[in-house]
Amino acid sequence: MSRPNIVPTGREGHFDTEEIIVSKTDLQGRITYANDVFLRVSGFSEREILGQPHNIIRHPDMPHSVFKLLWDTIQGGEEIFAYVVNLAKNGDHYWVFAHVTPSFDAEGKIAGYHSNRRKPDPEQIAKIEPVYRKLRELENDSGRVKDGMAAAIEFLQQTLEKQGTTYERFVFSL
Ligand SMILES: Cc1cc2nc3c(=O)[nH]c(=O)nc-3n(C[C@H](O)[C@H](O)[C@H](O)COP(=O)(O)O)c2cc1C
Repeated sequence: MSRPNIVPTGREGHFDTEEIIVSKTDLQGRITYANDVFLRVSGFSEREILGQPHNIIRHPDMPHSVFKLLWDTIQGGEEIFAYVVNLAKNGDHYWVFAHVTPSFDAEGKIAGYHSNRRKPDPEQIAKIEPVYRKLRELENDSGRVKDGMAAAIEFLQQTLEKQGTTYERFVFSL
């Protein structure tokens, strides 16, 4: 199955604050596990989702640079926390606060990845939205995706540096 062309409805999908949306992937980001909450909120069945690239739920509002930061971090063996807006099968969106970690085999090599997601507060979403809008603008300003992404990452790093903070501290300050 190729990535479906889902049109965002602008409606927000719901899940409870005590629920955790879980998925696991292989080294390429293909989904190897999704819990019941993931299936319910995304609207995909296990059959539809297993083996698919994780960008099957990518929302067009998400900056490419955030996913680059995510992949660079987890491929480097580190964990990352990130706000992500996802797209359900019916076009509804849902914001999550994701904790993405590498899983290691007995020899200490990365064997796959794991993501646990909780529901963020509306105030946190309101604070991250303008940051993501700016990153997307920078990405789109450049003719080439790669240049745009580099400009967006540079902007994020410089802004954090100017504020004397790090990405991790920034994410937890929201
Ligand atoms: C464990 C794990 C969980 C992920 N969860 C999501 C997710 O919830 N939503 C999403 O859009 N991308 C997620 N990604 C990132 C995707 O693999 C992909 O990089 C992203 O959707 C951007 O897709 P694109 O590079 O094709 O534009 C996850 C990756 C990993 C390794």
